[in-house]
Amino acid sequence: MPNTKASFSAKDFGDDFLWGVAIAAAQNEGAHDTYGKGPSIWDVYSKKARKIKSGHTPYESCDFYHRYKNDLLLTKALGFSVFRFSISWPRILPDGVGRINKEGIHFYHRVIDECLKLGLVPFVTLYHWDLPAALEKEGGWSAHLMLKWFSRFVTICAEEFGHKVKNWIVLNEPFGFTSLGYMLGKHAPGKIGMRNFLPAIHHAALAQAEGGRILRKLVPQAYIGTTFSCSEVVPFSNNEEDIKAAQRVDILLNRLFIEPTLGYGYPRDDFKFLDKLEMYNKAWKHRERMRFDFDYIGVQNYFPIVVKHNPLIPVVMASDVKATKRNVPHTSMGWEINGDSFYRILKKFSAYRGVKEIIVTENGAAFKDQLVDGEVDDQKRIDYFHGYLAALLRAKNEGMNIKGYFAWTLTDNFEWAEGYHARFGLIHVDFKTQLRTIKNSGYWFRDLLTSR
Ligand code: BGC
Repeated sequence: MPNTKASFSAKDFGDDFLWGVAIAAAQNEGAHDTYGKGPSIWDVYSKKARKIKSGHTPYESCDFYHRYKNDLLLTKALGFSVFRFSISWPRILPDGVGRINKEGIHFYHRVIDECLKLGLVPFVTLYHWDLPAALEKEGGWSAHLMLKWFSRFVTICAEEFGHKVKNWIVLNEPFGFTSLGYMLGKHAPGKIGMRNFLPAIHHAALAQAEGGRILRKLVPQAYIGTTFSCSEVVPFSNNEEDIKAAQRVDILLNRLFIEPTLGYGYPRDDFKFLDKLEMYNKAWKHRERMRFDFDYIGVQNYFPIVVKHNPLIPVVMASDVKATKRNVPHTSMGWEINGDSFYRILKKFSAYRGVKEIIVTENGAAFKDQLVDGEVDDQKRIDYFHGYLAALLRAKNEGMNIKGYFAWTLTDNFEWAEGYHARFGLIHVDFKTQLRTIKNSGYWFRDLLTSR
């Protein structure tokens, strides 16, 4: 049992503050080739590329598909009132376009109905990185047709679930999936180079806005957001070159997607390289189409980064100085733990004119958890959440319009290229038996949230 009492109470965040947990289809569901589901790019990539640690695959994962009732009960028992999950595109449309898989539709109805029965508010993400493999064959996010494909998928979801689900997230971290998947080749589909990256950025920026418009049209009283990965970028030293390097990285990491969304276009005045983005995509023509008036912005922050000038790295000419080398507290992912930096990120995003409300749609930490005698004593995770939530409360008390906080994540799950090695859950999963054990951090949340 956790013995650290929080220095704040849930009441301090206000009665209408949304407390949630977040999961994602490809990371949790399993059942990857059953009940009519088509393959996703992660199913294909994990099998072929062997780029995932220990050759892990998302095929079974923590089996949310069969255990959703149990997992939703656990969510409720820990005191959360919001459940964020994503809809697997290839479960709804096995070929990405064309034929609808009725079993897939029914599955999400069951999950949504169960949430509603338990009094959990569903927040539905439309795209959390599991593109149908069939569409990747046609170019995936680099293809012009993406807008058409995605619009159809969003329309189906809105028409099917819109009478039950009011809270929507269009994309999960567009910079995450375009950079890791289409430039660095570290995530599915494993592509590299500007030729793939530049069009992928632009199609994601357009799809994000278009998804918002479709939901607005089809779902009465919808509360529509989209999420951005963000990290404070700190120069390694005060020298001019490091400062400039930090500015370039900041543009890519933090500004590239939110600014076109808000109607400012790409932040190219500050980074000439982005002219290419405009030239390549004729993006200036699309300024209005990239804009959508989101009801809220989902901020997802885990760590700050420190960068220095590095002429050997193309384009950004910068590289990060790892937390492990800097001797600062970090998680098992090597990510710096820094609540003050989270506060500054919230401040940066709140300061944008056009951002009406913010929800922290993901935040959390992986540690090397040990299950000993039926207990997972993850004090480090408790300290992490404590520090980050204290920072959020400070931001909120200063008047930033932050409406909610969703912890990443409910159960240990498939952590992309890390496979099952990185455990982010509030609940431990034994991947051999699927046994769930609430970690002390889970009890810590329960104590915090049930004292409301
Ligand atoms: C992603 C999650 C991921 C988490 C931890 C976020 O960038 O949205 O899917 O598991 O970070 O790496």
